Amino acid sequence: MSRILIIYSSVHGQTRKVTDFLKQQLESLGNEVSCASIDETPDIAAFDKIIIGASIRHGKHNPAVYQFISQNLQQLDDKPNSFFSINLVARKPAKNTPATNPYVQAFLAKTPWQPKLVEVFAGNLNYQGYNALDRNAIRFIMWLTKGPTAIDTNVEYTNWDKVSEYAQQLDQL
Ligand SMILES: Cc1cc2nc3c(=O)[nH]c(=O)nc-3n(C[C@H](O)[C@H](O)[C@H](O)COP(=O)(O)O)c2cc1C
Repeated sequence: MSRILIIYSSVHGQTRKVTDFLKQQLESLGNEVSCASIDETPDIAAFDKIIIGASIRHGKHNPAVYQFISQNLQQLDDKPNSFFSINLVARKPAKNTPATNPYVQAFLAKTPWQPKLVEVFAGNLNYQGYNALDRNAIRFIMWLTKGPTAIDTNVEYTNWDKVSEYAQQLDQL
């Protein structure tokens, strides 16, 4: 049994949804799990295991994630830890592993943290849930990457079996 903290950075709720799913799975494996938004700048001292999940927006993970990591690097390194990214590029089979996903690679190049376990999951796409500026931006990205551009698109690409496997790996970490 570990006391696990999952820290999430989520704009439209998908990373939060993955976080809640992981919490449920890890609790069913006998762990005690807390979740906190990166905005709460959580205190990690009381936990045995730390997981950080963040989504991609306009090609970037939230800068607050990098800041949190640099402020807590030593404590993070001292515990079992993991990072996962949520983005839409990962819906493509050729870009859905940490080694092949460009955002995960950019993250690892930018942060001094070397997470002990890294994973990437595809997110969701719901044009009606975005404001006009965001909708246009993401539609353009979808057009460039040959994804759906119909204005009523609402699709979840997240592979929940893969998230379950990740939960098992986190339990073993
Ligand atoms: C405004 C906007 C910009 C996005 N930019 C990217 C991007 O550059 N690359 C990408 O792969 N996914 C991009 N996405 C997709 C998100 O990563 C995806 O929708 C994810 O599920 C969002 O997670 P969240 O709800 O936890 O923030 C973008 C989504 C939005 C709404």
